[in-house]
Order: sequence, then structure tokens, then C-alpha cells
Amino acid sequence: MEALLLGAGLLLGAYVLVYYNLVKAPPCGCIGSLRGRTAVVTGANSGIGKMTALELARRGARVVLACRSRERGEAAAFDLRQESGNNEVIFMALDLASLASVRAFATAFLGSEPRLDILIHNAGISSCGRRKETFNLLLRVNHIGPFLLTHLLLPHLKSCAPSRVVVVSSAAHQRGRLDFTRLNRPVVGWRQELRAYADSKLANVLFARELATQLEGSGVTCYAAHPGPVNSELFLRHLPGWLRPMLCPLAWLVLRAPQGGAQTPLYCALQEGIEPLSGRYFANCHVEEVPPAARDDPAAHRLWEASKKLAGLGPGKDEDPDEEPQPEDSGALSSLSTSRPKKPRVSGLSHAPGGLPDLSKLTQQIQVKAEPTHQLS
Ligand SMILES: NC(=O)c1ccc[n+]([C@@H]2O[C@H](COP(=O)([O-])OP(=O)(O)OC[C@H]3O[C@@H](n4cnc5c(N)ncnc54)[C@H](OP(=O)(O)O)[C@@H]3O)[C@@H](O)[C@H]2O)c1
Repeated sequence: MEALLLGAGLLLGAYVLVYYNLVKAPPCGCIGSLRGRTAVVTGANSGIGKMTALELARRGARVVLACRSRERGEAAAFDLRQESGNNEVIFMALDLASLASVRAFATAFLGSEPRLDILIHNAGISSCGRRKETFNLLLRVNHIGPFLLTHLLLPHLKSCAPSRVVVVSSAAHQRGRLDFTRLNRPVVGWRQELRAYADSKLANVLFARELATQLEGSGVTCYAAHPGPVNSELFLRHLPGWLRPMLCPLAWLVLRAPQGGAQTPLYCALQEGIEPLSGRYFANCHVEEVPPAARDDPAAHRLWEASKKLAGLGPGKDEDPDEEPQPEDSGALSSLSTSRPKKPRVSGLSHAPGGLPDLSKLTQQIQVKAEPTHQLS
């Protein structure tokens, strides 16, 4: 009996530890009205994106749900209008797997929406499912599509500055290794998919870094955000049916709810005072240092050039576009330099002896500002 009680106590203690360190997310704590502001959230019909869009709508923003399925997108817009009491939540079609769809979305958006204050690249896939493409579908949806969309929407972001771009990445970026000779090779089998997912999330971190450099001084800042381990359809939707009843309850117990996962993207989109940290990676509403591969500035610039080519935006050095060759977008490109800017990436930070910026002081100041005065419901 005593052994049983001890075992139960240990199990409970272990769960409490897991819960407070992994499952429970710190609230973003950002307050303030977003009335008069416009936000785009990609992949907002489910999971983290839907909860992110809900919080933006609750704060009064006009929120555009950029989703690939009209049916799921319209249904989510309806839910979010009901739940937030904000009628300014609309659906617009965007399939990030298709460069033509990204361009069509941008044309429709720029033609109908006068503002863009917050762009959240949330949509993502972890597997190709049954699709067999001649290109790397994970890189296309998770990085190249968002890269192109950012370029096309930049005129609005710049004219509404201060404005923000948030790229929802993942801690999986730590396992990423970009092979520039094979960036766009098709992905076959689950092992390659896991690798391609990590690579695409590393691309997210490098993209935010390079974008921050390219946009320095423009008033547009950008951040990579890790939502934490979240109980969503991202991986579960690819499980065989017979495994779901076993794994879903476990996922519910040990993974964060999507609302918890939305906190760090929201923090990056809304928190005042983090502008000097533009280009950085955030997790649990804190800036975090990343491994060397994710702060490799020459690699970030090389990825930028390769991505331009893969997105049909102009000559790059590494890969050929495999689909939908597009004319050069001189308007978007003219606003971003292709040469390396000389200024340091993060201004106002001293460097620690190891050569890394000493973020501790600035982070402390921001944490004081971020003290939650309002808990998310
Ligand atoms: N869940 C986690 O533990 C975790 C951890 C780290 C990072 N993340 C990141 O968080 C983000 C959101 O994931 P989630 O967990 O909320 O997963 P999710 O529930 O599966 O949501 C993914 C969203 O992306 C959309 N999407 C997929 N392919 C698309 C395409 N081609 N064009 C436009 N939209 C597309 C999906 O739309 P459909 O419903 O039409 O498929 C869905 O709305 C992803 O970027 C993911 O990498 C998640």
C-alpha cells in the first residue's frame, strides 16, 4: 500500500513538473486595443492560428484569415466573429503550396485592404500526406510561400509602420541543416519529412533574421516564434486511425492547448519595446539564443537569394524554380536590397565575451514591461 501511494505521489509530482515546465504557457500579457489595425494570420482555421486570430479579434483588430479551404476558413471566421464579438473577421483564400495562389491573395488583399499592421506566418505542415510533388512541399508551404507573401505585402507593411511580421517557427529548427544543393528536392518517406520539417523551421529562423536586416530603419520589425509543444492537428492528422484513440488523450495531457501555443506569436506581434530584438527567436514569451546554424548570417543571406529564385522573384544562385515561373517582381524587390547591409542586426546590444549579443539586460527591461496586467481568458 505504501509503495502504491509513493508511486502515485511520484507520478503526480512528475506530471506537475511536466505541466508547469512544458504544458502551461506563460500568458503573453500584452494589453491595449488594436482597433483600426489590420492583421493577417495564415492557417487561421485551426490550432494555434485560430487562437492567435481570436485574441487579435478580441482586441478589436480587423483580422484576415488566410486559409486554403474556403469551407474551413469561412467556418472559422464565423466562429471567431461569434466568440470575439468582432464582426471584422474575414476569410481570404491562400494556398501557400501554390505561388500563383500567394500572388492572387496578395493582389486581392492589396486591392481591398488599405492597411496591414501585423502579418503572422502561422500556416505549416509536417508531412506531405498523400501529395507527390516535384518540389519540396514542406519548404514551399513553410518557407517559400511565406517569403513570397512577405515581399508582396511589404508596401502595406511599410506604409503602416510601425508594423510587424511574425514567423511561427519551432524548436525543431535546432535539428535543421540546410543543404543548398538540394533545397528544393522532393521529400519522400517519413524520415525525409521529419528532416525537411526541421530544415523548413530553420529556414523560418534565418528568414526572420535576414528580413530584420533588410528592413532595418523601415519601422517594420520581425520575429521568429516557437509556440511550444501544442496539442493540434499538425502531427496528429497524419497518424493512422487506430493510433489516434491512444495518442490523443496522451497529447491532451502533456501538450499545450492551442491557446497556450498562441501566446508567443501574440507576444511577438504585440509586445511593446521588443523592436530592438527584431530578427530574434522567441519561445515562452522570452527571447532565446539559437544554435550557430540559426544565427549564421551568410547562410541567412544565401537562403534569401535562393528563396527569391524559388519564389520566382528574380535570379538566385542555387536552385531552379520547378513550377509556375513568374516574372520578376521589380516593385517588391526594389524595396529590399540584395547586398549585405553594413549595420549590425540588433542595435543597442552589447556583446558578451563569446561574441553573442548580451540580451539579458534588454530582456529584463522587456519582462518588466510585459508583466501581465491582463490574463487571457
Ligand atoms: N503543434 C506544435 O506542437 C507545434 C510546435 C512548433 C511549431 N508549430 C508550428 O505552428 C504552426 C501552426 O501549427 P498548428 O500546430 O496549429 O497545426 P495545425 O492545427 O495543423 O494548423 C496548421 C494550419 O496551416 C494550414 N495550412 C496547411 N497547409 C497550408 C497551405 N498549403 N496553405 C495555407 N494554409 C495551410 C492548415 O490548414 P488546413 O486546415 O486546411 O490543413 C491549418 O490551418 C505551424 O507553422 C507549425 O509548424 C507547431
